[in-house]
Parts: sequence; structure tokens; C-alpha cells
Amino acid sequence: MARSFDGGKLIVASHNTGKVREIRELLAPFSADVVSAAELNLPEPEETGDSFIANAKLKALAAAINANLPALADDSGLSVEALDGAPGIYSARWAGPEKDFTAAMSRIEKELGQTESRRARFVCALALAWPDGHCEIFEGTVAGTLRFPPRGAKGFGYDPIFVADGHTITFAEMEPAAKHAISHRADAFHQLVAACFK
Ligand code: IMP
Repeated sequence: MARSFDGGKLIVASHNTGKVREIRELLAPFSADVVSAAELNLPEPEETGDSFIANAKLKALAAAINANLPALADDSGLSVEALDGAPGIYSARWAGPEKDFTAAMSRIEKELGQTESRRARFVCALALAWPDGHCEIFEGTVAGTLRFPPRGAKGFGYDPIFVADGHTITFAEMEPAAKHAISHRADAFHQLVAACFK
């Protein structure tokens, strides 16, 4: 049985304002008083894990122990089958300090070369941690195919090259609500809410 979140303050262990906003919206129906790690001036731990789950867990535990409050962290990225899962946990880092995702998408196209497989999936790991070190983990995915050149301007990151299974347009061409209904993040959140938010 998963441990439940009992209400009150919940830290979102992220300094990314977009991520904090999205999580706040997703948790709006529940009795969680969401505070960001940035608002509390919590340090950002280095993402030294070798998986999405390990990174989400280390971020959530660092915040929970530091602030003595429950904390939620997410770690996500794009995993390309023919590239042995790359860029994976390095998804943000492939875009460099300038966050140049056009370059990161070109790199994927180049590294795929003549390889036939265009299969890929987005992954989102969520970790909910408590100050006593207890942690609940959830992993959501959405599978699809990569298409080049990039198309659409609605999303972020690798959205312009990702077509989810059963769809014909990229995530960046979809209305945000349509993407959010099927995304890896939505999948992980449904699992989190079902297990820990009553
Ligand atoms: P994180 O902030 O370390 O978890 O890095 C996540 C990175 O993965 C982002 O910078 C994006 O490059 C990529 N990513 C995660 N989710 C999505 C998505 O829904 N669409 C496009 N790119 C995503």
C-alpha cells in the first residue's frame, strides 16, 4: 500500500517555473498547498542518477529532508530506441546551456542516419518523498515515432519531432489539452494521484 499525502504543504522540487505551474494545475483538485523549491531557496541537487527514477528520487529526497516537508519531483526526457535510449536522462543537456532544441533534434536525426527504426518514447518519473526518507515512485510513458523535419510550434523540447502512436500530427502541432491527455507526465500523474492523493 502506498503512503498517502495527508494535505498541507507540498514542495515541488523544481526550479523550472513551467514545471511548477503544470504540477500546481494538476494538483489543484487536491488539498495540497504547493510551494516551489525556488520559493524556499532550496539548493538544486546535481542530477547524478543513472535513470529518470534515480534522478526524480534524489531531487525529491533532497528537498524533503532539507525543508522537513513532503516533496514531489519529476524527471523526464525522450528515449530513442535505435540510439540505445539516448538522449534519455541527458535530454535537457543535449540542448546545451542555450537550450537549443533545434540543435538537439538535428543531432538525433544525424545519429539515426540511415537506421530504419524511428521508435521513441517520452518518459516521466515522479517521486514523492517524506522527510523520514520514505519515497513513492511512479513512471509514465507515451510511445511513438520520430518524424523529420520538426513540425509545429505549440509544445517545447522535442515535441516537434514526436508523433504519438495512434496520431498523425506531432506533439507540437497538437492543442496542449490534447497532448496533456495522453502525455507521459499525465500517465505518471494519474498513477501518483490514484495511489497517494485521496
Ligand atoms: P528535466 O527537467 O531534467 O526533467 O529535463 C526534461 C527534458 O526532457 C526537457 O528539457 C525536454 O528536453 C525533455 N522533455 C521532457 N518532457 C517533454 C515533453 O513533454 N515534450 C518535449 N520534450 C520533453
